[in-house]
Amino acid sequence: MKRLLKMTFLGVVTLASVSNGAQKSALDAKTLFERKCAMCHITRRPTPEMKKSLVAPPIMGVMHHIKDHGLDENEAVKFITDYVLHPSKEKALCEAQGIERFGLMPSQQGNVTEKELEAIARYIYRNFPPKGFRHRGMQR
Ligand code: HEC
Repeated sequence: MKRLLKMTFLGVVTLASVSNGAQKSALDAKTLFERKCAMCHITRRPTPEMKKSLVAPPIMGVMHHIKDHGLDENEAVKFITDYVLHPSKEKALCEAQGIERFGLMPSQQGNVTEKELEAIARYIYRNFPPKGFRHRGMQR
């Protein structure tokens, strides 16, 4: 009886830690994005006032363009992971306007690993743009 209890207990613990693990990685991707990308790519639609001080396109606009190019989740993850480490004008999918206005994105090599980027890219693909988003471009 004691042994059975122990086994059941272990089973529950294992199950609990598995589901916790899945939740934790989703949370981690969000946290990673907030720590490593959101200081440049804001997650809200900017007010006209905020637009003046933007240093990069808001992430919903970036993801709108990437999806507009027809990239599925895996293609987008590959593209984003590569672009963030090795940005170039030739690779950019967003409007040239983005680069013209903000300059080319500085490579984030040393700031973020490839593995972290895969998690971040999946997270932003799944969460941006938010439902109901309408693209308004970068007009002021
Ligand atoms: C120092 C500011 C800065 C940081 C930090 C930064 N970015 Fe960027 N990013 C930019 C700028 C500026 C652009 C627009 C110019 C361009 O496309 O290169 C851009 C563009 C992009 C693009 C669009 C590329 C395209 O197709 O034109 C993606 C995707 C992107 N960033 C992802 C990320 C991710 C993911 C992170 C976090 C790991 C990140 N960025 C961190 C400044 C930044």
